[in-house]
Amino acid sequence: MDLMDAIYHRRAVREFTDEPVDRETVRFVIAAAVQAPSAMNRQPWSFVVVEDQAALERYSSKAKAHLLETVPESTPLGHYRTLLAEPGFHIFYHAPAVIVICATSVEEGTSEDCCLAAENLMLAAHSAGLGTCWIGFARSWLDLAEGRKELGIPAHYVPVAPIAIGHPKGPTPPVPRRHADVLWVGS
Ligand SMILES: Cc1cc2nc3c(=O)[nH]c(=O)nc-3n(C[C@H](O)[C@H](O)[C@H](O)COP(=O)(O)O)c2cc1C
Repeated sequence: MDLMDAIYHRRAVREFTDEPVDRETVRFVIAAAVQAPSAMNRQPWSFVVVEDQAALERYSSKAKAHLLETVPESTPLGHYRTLLAEPGFHIFYHAPAVIVICATSVEEGTSEDCCLAAENLMLAAHSAGLGTCWIGFARSWLDLAEGRKELGIPAHYVPVAPIAIGHPKGPTPPVPRRHADVLWVGS
């Protein structure tokens, strides 16, 4: 797939079929993720792949409860409280797999490196006909001792990008972009 085509047509996919993502494809998207640039070429990332549907259901419930306990209504995330309180709302959208990209240290810049890896992963998934959605709702719970224990994330790692991945149920309409605000400096 042409790069610009992937950049312009990747979407946050929130409806998946039940078809599993085969491990070869998971390895393919992770191989693309690690092609991302990283500060001082540290490559400070690690990938946790969760395929167990019962576990994802449990993580969804726990992450929602954690957000409802900790996020005040007045914050931007607080506007999602009604959705988060819905028992049927699954934060991973019943995706067949979730890949959590973790920074392998808390050194400055490691989260940025992981974000670049995440974008590569999402574009590679799109090129393979898969859909992805970055699930920020999961992050704070994954960072708790309970979340780390559930996924086996070491204490010195930082969960940065939980990404749901699967086969899209159908096309996802584009989300309009605002005009880019550009400040030209110089003549
Ligand atoms: C850091 C980050 C966190 C996000 N968290 C969520 C989330 O928790 N749930 C969700 O449905 N989408 C989440 N998204 C997806 C965005 O809502 C989506 O990318 C945005 O609406 C633009 O749509 P597009 O990706 O189709 O262009 C997140 C995206 C980013 C980059």
